Amino acid sequence: MRRSTQTILAASLVAASHSQTVLDLSTVEWTVTSPNFTYISVPGKLPSQAHLDLYAAQAIGNPLFGLNDFNLRWIGDSNWTYNSAPLNTLSENSSSTWLLFNGLDTFTSIEICGQHVASTNNQFRQYYFEISDILRSCSDPILSINFGSATVIANATAALPGQETWPEGVEGLFEFPNRQFIRKEQNDFGWDWGPAFAPAGPWQPAYVIQLGAQSAYIRNTLIDIYREGQLNLLPPDQSKDWVMNASIDFLGSIPSDAALHYILQDSENSTVLSGQLSNTTREDNSITGSVLIPSDTVELWWPVGMGSQTLYDLTLRIVDGSNNTVSFVTKRIGFRTIVLNELPITEEQLDQGIAPGNNWHFEINGHEFYAKGSNFIPPDPFWPTVTEDRLRQLFESVIDGNQNMLRVWSSGAYSPDFMYDLADSMGILLWSEFEFGDALYPVDQEFLDNVAEEVLYQVRRVNHHPSLAFWAGGNELENLELYLVNQSAPDQLDRYTAEYEKLFLDTIVPIVFGNTHSISYSPSSTSNGWLSLNFSLPQPITERYENVTEGSIYGDTDHYNYNSAVSFNYSTYPVGRFANEFGYHSMPSLQTWQQAVDPRDLHFNSSVITLRNHHYPAGGLNTSNYDRARKGMGEMTIAAQRWYPAPNKTNSLANFSAWCHTTQIFQADYYSSQIQFYRRGSALPERQLGSLYWQLEDQWQAPTWAGIEYDGRWKVLHYVAKDIYQPVIISPFLNVSTRDFEVWVISDLWTPVYGTVNMTWYDWSGNKLNISTPASANVQVGAINGTKVLSGNLGDLLSYHNSTDVLLAMEVSVRGTRPNSSNKTEIFIHRNWFHADALSNAKLVDPGLVLSHSNSNSSGFFTVKATKGVAAWVWLDYPAGAVLNFDANAFWLMPGEEKQVRYKVKSDTTGGNWTDGATVRSLWDNTVS
Ligand SMILES: *[C@@H]1O[C@H](CO)[C@@H](O)[C@H](O)[C@H]1NC(C)=O
Ligand SMILES: *[C@@H]1O[C@H](CO)[C@@H](O)[C@H](O)[C@H]1NC(C)=O
Ligand SMILES: *[C@@H]1O[C@H](CO)[C@@H](O)[C@H](O)[C@H]1NC(C)=O
Ligand SMILES: *[C@@H]1O[C@H](CO)[C@@H](O)[C@H](O)[C@H]1NC(C)=O
Ligand SMILES: *[C@@H]1O[C@H](CO)[C@@H](O)[C@H](O)[C@H]1NC(C)=O
Ligand SMILES: *[C@@H]1O[C@H](CO)[C@@H](O)[C@H](O)[C@H]1NC(C)=O
Repeated sequence: MRRSTQTILAASLVAASHSQTVLDLSTVEWTVTSPNFTYISVPGKLPSQAHLDLYAAQAIGNPLFGLNDFNLRWIGDSNWTYNSAPLNTLSENSSSTWLLFNGLDTFTSIEICGQHVASTNNQFRQYYFEISDILRSCSDPILSINFGSATVIANATAALPGQETWPEGVEGLFEFPNRQFIRKEQNDFGWDWGPAFAPAGPWQPAYVIQLGAQSAYIRNTLIDIYREGQLNLLPPDQSKDWVMNASIDFLGSIPSDAALHYILQDSENSTVLSGQLSNTTREDNSITGSVLIPSDTVELWWPVGMGSQTLYDLTLRIVDGSNNTVSFVTKRIGFRTIVLNELPITEEQLDQGIAPGNNWHFEINGHEFYAKGSNFIPPDPFWPTVTEDRLRQLFESVIDGNQNMLRVWSSGAYSPDFMYDLADSMGILLWSEFEFGDALYPVDQEFLDNVAEEVLYQVRRVNHHPSLAFWAGGNELENLELYLVNQSAPDQLDRYTAEYEKLFLDTIVPIVFGNTHSISYSPSSTSNGWLSLNFSLPQPITERYENVTEGSIYGDTDHYNYNSAVSFNYSTYPVGRFANEFGYHSMPSLQTWQQAVDPRDLHFNSSVITLRNHHYPAGGLNTSNYDRARKGMGEMTIAAQRWYPAPNKTNSLANFSAWCHTTQIFQADYYSSQIQFYRRGSALPERQLGSLYWQLEDQWQAPTWAGIEYDGRWKVLHYVAKDIYQPVIISPFLNVSTRDFEVWVISDLWTPVYGTVNMTWYDWSGNKLNISTPASANVQVGAINGTKVLSGNLGDLLSYHNSTDVLLAMEVSVRGTRPNSSNKTEIFIHRNWFHADALSNAKLVDPGLVLSHSNSNSSGFFTVKATKGVAAWVWLDYPAGAVLNFDANAFWLMPGEEKQVRYKVKSDTTGGNWTDGATVRSLWDNTVS
């Protein structure tokens, strides 16, 4: 191994004979007009979308305000033209000139110098066009991109003679129809947690590139790092060395004797390895080579909580015969294997008590682990507004929330590189998906070819990121779409299954497996996994579908049940190997509502608030399906009322706020109950190894399943998930039919933990009750496992006590070590509460909460004290104008107990005055008017 300190100096590396000039089209002035509305002309930007430029010019109001979701349909239904100022800096001496678009949303007709260049029809492809000939006779170098209306074109495509059709109800219809015919972000046409704007515009960076002879511009790079002999979907031999395969896609031309050099540098810029890639091949406009990297020369990359996030810089240089650099690129990479293990349960696993069937869990560097996280949706209806800073803040909340994996839901857009870069450095695994969902898709050759280009570009673009954990074909395809076909047209199931396989297996798999050895693929986000794998075929996967054996367990689960009567009945939760979606919607806070609706609309069932609830979706373009939205509103209020004291405050705004908050408590309580059930599954025959709830964050201000509101404010859910995603938890389980009652300690650490549990029964005033269970016990929990520490029958235990006045306080304190932490011992403490009856029936008492704020130079904290009784769901709140998170919230306090709560301010327009407006409440406050 050679080590020397070496700094890469970007510009000087490229030899003069291989010149390139790049004009970044974001630096050019743009004008946006519409052939539909000749009176509109506003300044434009790039990257952008027409809604954003119209709003910036005050030609329209804030798209996210009020009912603009319904009112701004005309923008999506129209063409929008982006015209550049004359590109006068272009040189006349270059050998070739190219237009390069990293993304156009979606249908365009592109002209330069008044001449047609090309048309495009896929938001997710990178497009590049040589314009050398056009420029040779050009007097007015204006670039003009005419964006067609996606809603008009989707309708027209659906109406083409011979076009594909599906049985009634198979297409998930939200607002605009026919999204499945076009390759555009599917939720742009509406979803049950978002608005439908169908935006158009140059949504990604774009460039004009001018090259000398024998010059190349690198437009995309594939880096695939895997263990020698590794095959997708199979756990590799961790003792093997690494293969690093690199492939560069370029514009222009490179010398016939070109080679690929590489330099691998660590975070100190020391060179770890360098040299020439071997087995170089050239095909069209790409050059590919590989090198073996001895295992002991590099350190592993681990997700957060499992070790450090060691990253390296890899510089790849295309060199000519004299070793002059033609072009080069640097990517930050990491060394890890991540596999979705769907192998059959082994004899050894059966002996451990694991139920037969197949595995369905992830393994990082050969270790199975418990995936804790949530589902990520597009953080804004308009992607050009999603900056790296915004995502960093969101990801800090992910880390603060004890999450290690996000499922980046398909039917949005492929994640930008800066999002993967953040995840690489923060240790967040990103389960990624191709952008299909809740519909079946056409399979004509033109559509398949279009998808193939999209998949090829995206797979190659992001493969070098160690945070990339998985590729899934699309959202809810097998468990929902094929199921719906079987429900409405069972005789057509074979036909639609064959079409499904044509797209999600025959088309996509050879491209994925042909470019990456390191990433697993499954065609559907939720499925029963594969039935068999045969790597001698170009498409190795045979899906299992319903080919299941009774008593065996397969696949991952997706669970929604809006009958809140059974929300805390564990027998209604799915038993599977991994939970990748589950949830229930809740209202955002009053502070968030105030950003988006008029003060007069701030009451629970105002029409504006109701129509911003898209569960259940409008199913069309106007507001006539009001009853569907009302049904979803009803589900929230019924659940809140059923399980908690219902607010009935005389001040209407305070009442609205309390209702919003109570729907959030229900949501958090329900998720917490499910997460504890899934985590306990790691100790049960299902050997359950993942919990990703629906959904991490919001893309507007509305009732949704999110745990984080649009501006970053945490709902009750995110605090509760943070608590219950701690490595070691103590959890109560009541079987509501038999009244059997158990308490478990669950750990997802990779080595056993040892310690004690304390369990004490109280009434709501905080008096100890004489209920005969052991007050304390020793506990030991194995690696990623659970141990039952109490079991009995609640009826027997309570005997003469009134269940409305009985609580169990539980605490676990154990010693353990985090994975790859050099055996550093830590104490893990978790507290939990069990109430023997629904809180709506409980004999709550006034806890006499007292809040105070202390400000030292560097940081502040609040102190909360319960002075009179047990305080349930203690909630610190803060006014609009700031966004912050507390280190704990939605906790319980015993009478006399005092808790210090620290906070992290994310943004503040109040000059620090928000602390004066901070308040505290608990569930007791719901009972006072
Ligand atoms: C805008 O013009 C296109 C093309 O003529 C047409 O299809 C579309 O319906 C028009 N949109 C509106 C809102 O008038
Ligand atoms: C609207 O845009 C589409 C796609 O770019 C184009 O084919 C069509 O001619 C445009 N219509 C008008 C009226 O500009
Ligand atoms: C598309 O079709 C739907 C359903 O037929 C219709 O309501 C809508 O107006 C159409 N959209 C456009 C832009 O023509
Ligand atoms: C490594 O090099 C980069 C880019 O030249 C520089 O920004 C960084 O400060 C260097 N880091 C160290 C530790 O020298
Ligand atoms: C180059 O190709 C040969 C023959 O296929 C193979 O044995 C060798 O492992 C390859 N080298 C690398 C670094 O991939
Ligand atoms: C180019 O660099 C490679 C690898 O560093 C070296 O083996 C080769 O001799 C060099 N060729 C020339 C012409 O300098």
